[in-house]
Amino acid sequence: MAENILEVKDLVKHYPLTQGVLFKKQVGAVKAVDGISFELKKGETLGIVGESGCGKSTLAKVLMNLERATSGQVLFKGEDISQLSGAALKSVRRNIQMVFQDPYTSLNPRMTVGDIIGEPFEIHPEVAPKGDRRKAVQDLLDVVGLNPEYINRYPHQFSGGQRQRIGIARGLALKPEIIICDEPVSALDVSVQAQVINLLEQLQSEFELSYMFIAHDLSIVRHISDRVGVMYLGKMVEIGSDEEIYDNATHPYTQALLSAVPVPDPAARESRDRIILSGDIPSPANPPSGCRFRTRCWKAEDRCAEEIPLLAVPTVLKGAAAHDSACHFPEVRVQAAA
Ligand SMILES: Nc1ncnc2c1ncn2[C@@H]1O[C@H](COP(=O)(O)OP(=O)(O)O)[C@@H](O)[C@H]1O
Ligand SMILES: [Mg+2]
Repeated sequence: MAENILEVKDLVKHYPLTQGVLFKKQVGAVKAVDGISFELKKGETLGIVGESGCGKSTLAKVLMNLERATSGQVLFKGEDISQLSGAALKSVRRNIQMVFQDPYTSLNPRMTVGDIIGEPFEIHPEVAPKGDRRKAVQDLLDVVGLNPEYINRYPHQFSGGQRQRIGIARGLALKPEIIICDEPVSALDVSVQAQVINLLEQLQSEFELSYMFIAHDLSIVRHISDRVGVMYLGKMVEIGSDEEIYDNATHPYTQALLSAVPVPDPAARESRDRIILSGDIPSPANPPSGCRFRTRCWKAEDRCAEEIPLLAVPTVLKGAAAHDSACHFPEVRVQAAA
């Protein structure tokens, strides 16, 4: 069993809601991430899936230390990095890099590709001393499948897929151990998505990277993930291996997401009963009591309003084969036969 490179313990990120003159009075909080725990093993890809607004990007930013956690711990190789600052933070940041969703807005249009990819070296000159930088950037261009001669071009001279390769090259510059990919292909044409995902997989084995791969639907992460975690309204509701999530999901929300995944085979599509969720996602400033999914769940009972379901139920209670699912009534969904 591989070691945990990252351990997240009861992580919380609340954004204060303020009101009044100079916004001085706090009247509430957006509970963007509200008590999340999971592990990332060395060399694995953990997919994180959930609808827009459920807190995926906030989780990524807190793990990257771009946002301070409200509470909880982020252990990188056993050391809590969530409250670091100054030199200690700088040194640990090198090891966790991010690839952003939108290659059209995340690259500065006034900088050359060489300056964009080489920018991290300004903060960490020890990785590539000044005289070696041009060569280092050209090597990175080559590694992501771009012509090293493009080093002096500007972002607008590249296609969407090529720009995302530039973003990936920049993410690799400091030789990180973890890369958090926040919807890296969501803004790209379907035909280009597979190429970028293939590149990420190839880089993972070449550089022994651990990935967190964030997406808003389950179909994209299936191919690349070893394990998948499903988020709803600031909580992780189910987490497990590929087979556990795609074939044996026990949380109704995961089952609803799965029923919406496109299937290529028309016969399978016909026979499949799609779960249509009623109602909108509640506000993260005012989430439902008990289970957050209960207002849209067809299985909800009184208990669901009163008692918060835990993600990790002791194995003795759930049986040895089951995986973590934050539902009071976890059950594999049986599809109607074709
Ligand atoms: N800086 C911020 N200030 C206040 N609320 C925020 C901020 N960033 C995100 N949010 C809110 O937190 C929730 C989660 O957002 P986000 O993490 O971007 O979700 P996702 O990436 O899953 O779409 C949303 O309700 C969003 O409006
Ligand atoms: Mg997001």
